[in-house]
Amino acid sequence: MSADASGQFPSVRLRRLRSHSQLRELVRETKLDAGDFILPLFIKHGQGQRLPIGSMPGQSQITVDLLKEEIAEIEALGIPAIILFGIPEHKDAVGSDAYSDTGIIQQAVREIKRLGSKLLVMTDVCFCEFTDHGHCGIIGHRHGQPDVDNDQTLEILVKEAVSHAQAGADLIAPSGMMDGMIQALRQGLDAAGFTHIPIMSYAAKYCSAFYGPFRDAAESAPKFGDRRTYQMDPANGREALREVALDLAEGADILMVKPALSYLDVIYRVKQAHPEVPLAAYNVSGEYAMIKAAAANGWIDEQRVALEVLTSIKRAGADMILTYFAKDAARWLHF
Ligand code: PBG
Repeated sequence: MSADASGQFPSVRLRRLRSHSQLRELVRETKLDAGDFILPLFIKHGQGQRLPIGSMPGQSQITVDLLKEEIAEIEALGIPAIILFGIPEHKDAVGSDAYSDTGIIQQAVREIKRLGSKLLVMTDVCFCEFTDHGHCGIIGHRHGQPDVDNDQTLEILVKEAVSHAQAGADLIAPSGMMDGMIQALRQGLDAAGFTHIPIMSYAAKYCSAFYGPFRDAAESAPKFGDRRTYQMDPANGREALREVALDLAEGADILMVKPALSYLDVIYRVKQAHPEVPLAAYNVSGEYAMIKAAAANGWIDEQRVALEVLTSIKRAGADMILTYFAKDAARWLHF
């Protein structure tokens, strides 16, 4: 035997395994599947309306009565789960629609369950869509400045989560980044008899400009200030490991990193630190909108870029992905 072109012996040629598409399939390390996806849905009060969201082409706000066809389509595509966001009719200072038995999310969950759907119904537990000021909790004052009061907010978060569970939610996903949130919610759910309801914590949620389109979609932009006093600084990676460790100690069942694409290193580090814990990543609205906009201009191939992005999120360590591409990706992958 002689040495190969690079002087190595025996001859190492990595291109051998790339020479045939079936062989590439066999050696592929990361495989996307519709079963990896969780589709976010925006539920609006009212009737008979499907309102397209301008900054998120392909996504709409829909009313509860139109859920039947939407749910059937999602199920047929093999997507296992949805996560619900609500746009209530009335907003107030404490976001009371969020924990009302007749609130928009409670109505939607009951309707999906009434339809006998097998989908796993997750609910986002937060207040920014429900408060008139657009912040994720009750406003108090610190050093004379208005700011979200952590512990008062914990009390209404528990009311919201219990109310979602009573309506029939299968899993709750708190996204408000309050300290002690997971412990308070676990205790509150258990005390109300919901020991079996898992918590998916938005454990490392960054204060990101990539949420812009979502805030149009959910009508949830803060009316003053920003979310820097509760969401994480995008410059911090190690701090994410503290957030995650605390949430695990408090009883989180699934962890989440959000956004996904600018935070693949965080996804990787969280998975390395806790390989035994299921990890979700949220491929957020701005990440979706960028691909849609570039594709609409003919600058990129939407399908290939979207699947490459989703694959990268899984390769980094996510076990499941919340993504607005769920339906399209399921079609591209399986149909
Ligand atoms: C807060 C929440 C937000 C998103 C999900 N849950 C917005 C925010 O923190 O302002 C953003 C999701 C996205 O951008 O797709 N309840």
